[in-house]
Amino acid sequence: MASGFTKNSTTEFLDANMLNLVTDAPATAAEHTGTTQPWTNAEIQGNILKAFNRRYATYLFLRFNNHGPSVRRRLKRLLNEFVTRASKQDELSEVFNKNGRREPVDGVGMFGLSARGYKRLGMPAHSPADPQGDSTPFDGGLREPEDQTRDYIWDHHQSGWEEPFATADLDAFLLLADDLSDRLQRSVQGARELIDGAAQIVAEEHGRRLEDRNGEQREPFGFLEGRLNRKDASPVLVPEGSSPSADAGYGTFALFLKIEQHLDRFHQLAHDLQTEVTKNNGSVTDQEVREHAVGITISGVPLVGTAEVSQDFTFDKVPESVCPFHAHARAMRNFADEEPFPMVRRGIGYGPVPGESQNGAAPEPTGLLFLSLQPSLWTPIMLLGRAQRRRDAVLGSEKDLNGTAQEWTFPGCPAHKFAWADVTTIKGGEYFFIPSMKFIDAL
Ligand code: HEM
Repeated sequence: MASGFTKNSTTEFLDANMLNLVTDAPATAAEHTGTTQPWTNAEIQGNILKAFNRRYATYLFLRFNNHGPSVRRRLKRLLNEFVTRASKQDELSEVFNKNGRREPVDGVGMFGLSARGYKRLGMPAHSPADPQGDSTPFDGGLREPEDQTRDYIWDHHQSGWEEPFATADLDAFLLLADDLSDRLQRSVQGARELIDGAAQIVAEEHGRRLEDRNGEQREPFGFLEGRLNRKDASPVLVPEGSSPSADAGYGTFALFLKIEQHLDRFHQLAHDLQTEVTKNNGSVTDQEVREHAVGITISGVPLVGTAEVSQDFTFDKVPESVCPFHAHARAMRNFADEEPFPMVRRGIGYGPVPGESQNGAAPEPTGLLFLSLQPSLWTPIMLLGRAQRRRDAVLGSEKDLNGTAQEWTFPGCPAHKFAWADVTTIKGGEYFFIPSMKFIDAL
């Protein structure tokens, strides 16, 4: 039997203050060396096929100063210096694997352009067409226009957006990642100097990989992250350009979202529901409630009722008492009659490590710098619409509940109505395309 996930008998909740940062191996060498694919690893950016998986990351969001060749020349110098080809990422992984897990390897970088970015560079013909046939989301950008004329498939709840995302144009991002924070800071400084005069840095976000003592990546609610990611990410790659030619480079559409996670509320809701269920003669722990909200155990096993789960599992026949419909992973997972969604997630946490002392200061926000890669933006748009309709317990808001609480069923007690919402808030974001190395070389 294929065993993608194995239930660990000691799946106790890893207390937030037990989380600590340790170095983990970066992505292993890419398996994509076959001859049928229309691209090579030297022609595409890193972090697509395999995650960078570095301990620290900084996003620099750029707004280009003016159109034309001089900005493109400066940008090319910046990207030649900092963007990592997938083939280079493979080499670094090999060195890392040879030298042992704790040996840090070089910093890495990734670059994305929004539709505004293609226009400001004077390269609108290079702006990608969405293979689903409707490029409106990419062309319009994620931020709602001031006249609010656009119809949205999912409601951004944009009132929660923070500055500078609420008003600034994000033409591009440069993501720099490293296992050493001081080396990352030097790279960020180097990038600032190289782009100074050609672009303004309108926003800067700092992420850090949150790991447990086994070196496994956790998101701030404490759950193992990325285990449900597709192993083969090659379906996310599409030819670039508005009408791609036979020798087009390959890239992928990206959705960046800064999502704040309200840890206190998440844990309080779990406790309140546990208390109510217990009063009704049910027996459930806080941790089991949290697992029902996310749809996986704290150690990353999908709640499908069996200890061994194959990679291509679905939740189709799983009773609600095992995993509710509104559990995040269930809402995001394809049904048995759907193809698996072609999306990979490359997020990293931000804010203080949960449970870490902040010397009595007001707690700083914590959350996820979410980055998904997919061949069409209609995949995340569809998923976010689905999250709203299903009243996803991780992504849903009070507005999505529309006065109707979810039903929570735990073994041995009747279904219980309990309104669970607003454990996360989107603070900003944008649609980007991750262009090919051919595009960067031709700038
Ligand atoms: C702070 C916000 C979020 C948190 C805490 C979160 C957390 C998680 C966790 C713990 C998992 C299961 C383990 C894994 O990573 O593979 C997961 C899976 C997943 N999430 Fe999220 N997520 C968040 C936002 C989003 C958003 C915005 C989307 C979509 C646009 C999304 C789409 C998915 C998908 C597609 C899966 C895999 C489902 C499957 O195939 O079984 N998540 N998420």
